[in-house]
Order: sequence, then structure tokens, then C-alpha cells
Amino acid sequence: MPFAPPVTRAVFPSNRTAPTYTVRVMEFRDILARRRMHRAFEPTPISREVVERIVGVIRRAPSGGFTQGSSIVVVTDEDKRRQIAAAFADHPPTQQFVLQAPVHLVISGNEALYHARYHEPDKLAATGGVEVTWPVPYWFVDAGALMMLVLAAAIDEGLASAFIGHPDQKRIFGELLGLPDEVVPIGLALVGHPAPDPTAEQGTSRMRSRRRPRGDLVHWERW
Ligand SMILES: Cc1cc2nc3c(=O)[nH]c(=O)nc-3n(C[C@H](O)[C@H](O)[C@H](O)COP(=O)(O)O)c2cc1C
Repeated sequence: MPFAPPVTRAVFPSNRTAPTYTVRVMEFRDILARRRMHRAFEPTPISREVVERIVGVIRRAPSGGFTQGSSIVVVTDEDKRRQIAAAFADHPPTQQFVLQAPVHLVISGNEALYHARYHEPDKLAATGGVEVTWPVPYWFVDAGALMMLVLAAAIDEGLASAFIGHPDQKRIFGELLGLPDEVVPIGLALVGHPAPDPTAEQGTSRMRSRRRPRGDLVHWERW
């Protein structure tokens, strides 16, 4: 009988060498060190392939009950970005960088999908036939986690990223992008090649003076 092909990659000799985890850890630290809200972009377009890789992190994002209730609307069309920038221009009036960014990513949550998921038999069995008591709105928790992955993925591509919100964003994105009623945007991620950011240095020194002591934020063993 002929040998069956290997069922796992582990049997290949190339996989027998020790994995080099250190490299990945350094890369993550590197991304983290470079992470900041960048507020100036070159208008240079970003290739479809790169944008696909960035938004592809949605497949790696955690979600309560594996609901996968978050979504991204990718906007690269200049006219649409101009409309978004115009709608965001009044809050605050300094956000020129919105139009500069060649990629706009509207990140949303969808509460209805969570209620539906948590009414499925496996979830109801775990909670005695009634919908779980939500400790916090998981739909926004998950959308926030996705936002962070998207911002980091952009940096991983050698790009800059930012995240901004507008008090009226539900109406704005509903009108401009046709978001369904139940889809609630948490904000707008901007991605592009970094331009010199005049607010960066000023921001850094302001941040340093405003930075809260770590002990106020991280509590060991108890609050
Ligand atoms: C939910 C959220 C909303 C934000 N909204 C805006 C915004 O509307 N405009 C803006 O310039 N920055 C916005 N930011 C960026 C924050 O101001 C920024 O993250 C914070 O000052 C810390 O700076 P850093 O991210 O560069 O470390 C927002 C960030 C978050 C997480």
C-alpha cells in the first residue's frame, strides 16, 4: 500500500527546527512602539492588496459567542471621502487629515446579531433558557477590539493610522454609505502613508504631562 501523504505539516523536516518566537515578539513591540494616532497623511493611494490584508484582520478578531457582529466599510473613492471629511469638519474643525487619508474604514457593531446568537440553543442551554445578562455591550467591546487590530495591521504594513469619532456619525454614515439601521458605527479609522504630523511633537509633550501614572491604571491583586 502506498504511503498516505502526511496529514500535518509537523512531519516535514523544515518544521522540526525550534520555532523562532522571539522574532514575532519583537515585531509586536515594534508595532506598539510606533502606535499613535497619526494626524497627517500623504494622499498616495494604497493598493487593494494591502487594504485587503488590513481589513482581513476581521477574521482574527475575537467576538462574544463568536457572533462576528462587527463590520468594516472600506471607502477609497475620493468623492465619498470628501463627503465624509466635510461631514466630520465641524467636530473639531481642525481635522484636515480626514480627507488626506486615502483609506477610510468605518467600523461598526450590530447589537441585533448578538441577541440572535445568544438565543441559539447552545447559549440558551448554558443560561437556563433565557438570554444572558450582558455585563457590558459586547457588540461595542468587539468593535473596539477590531478597531485596535485594524490600526495595528496598518502600522504592520508600514503605514500610519488614526481613529476618530463624530457625535452624529450614525446619521452621517447611514446617509453617505447606506449603513442599515441596526449597524452602529463606533467611528472612523484612517489609513495612509504618514506625512509629517505638525501635532505630533506638541501632542507628545502634552501627552507626557497628561499621562496618568501607571499605578492609577494597573492594579495588582486588587484595586
Ligand atoms: C474612541 C476614540 C475616539 C477618538 N476620537 C478622536 C477624534 O475624534 N479626533 C482625534 O483627533 N483623535 C481621536 N482619538 C484619538 C485620541 O485622541 C488618542 O488616541 C489619544 O489622545 C492618545 O494618543 P495616541 O493614540 O497617539 O497615543 C480617538 C481615540 C479613540 C480611542
